[in-house]
Amino acid sequence: MTHPRDDSPNAPPQASLFDLAGGFDGIERVLADFYSQVFIDSMIGFMFAGADPQRLVRTEAELTARLFGASHIPYTGRPIGATHRPHRIFGGQFERRMMLLSQAMTRHGVPEVVKLAWLEHNRSMRKQVTVDAGAECDGPEAASVPRAAGLPIEGWSPEEAG
Ligand code: HEM
Repeated sequence: MTHPRDDSPNAPPQASLFDLAGGFDGIERVLADFYSQVFIDSMIGFMFAGADPQRLVRTEAELTARLFGASHIPYTGRPIGATHRPHRIFGGQFERRMMLLSQAMTRHGVPEVVKLAWLEHNRSMRKQVTVDAGAECDGPEAASVPRAAGLPIEGWSPEEAG
């Protein structure tokens, strides 16, 4: 039996990463769960004392939705570099956050393709977020976070998040 090529006009339309992530609501659900863990985390929770969880969830959901192609959704948060610089975040703390995000996605059954794109997008912002941009301060947790090799992230550039 023959199958139409995936890119033929007869192929079924492919769901976007945004759809696969459950749209804005789906992204927000993952992030709400993620931040509930971040705030009580023994390694990085203290950094969020005084931060507004609802604002974090909303602004990060906007950023993530845009990454997944929903360019009609504006990012209303502050520039990522300027927001994080005063907190003097180290590589190990960055990796800890990555692990908590990965775990939240797993709990919510986020499809693998979305999960990898999301984590890769976060990793691409590491230089803006941490004070030690290299890998030298990665803790053992760094190895446990999945990585997507060369996964293209369309329609988004780190500069956008400033
Ligand atoms: C690429 C990874 C990250 C992304 C995408 C991200 C995203 C965000 C966003 C969207 C905000 C809200 C900005 C606003 O209020 O307008 C924020 C704030 C914040 N982030 Fe991150 N973040 C990342 C990594 C980290 C890490 C690794 C830490 C610490 C371990 C961290 C700690 C904080 C804190 C403490 C705030 C509140 C800042 C404040 O109100 O002064 N972030 N982040």
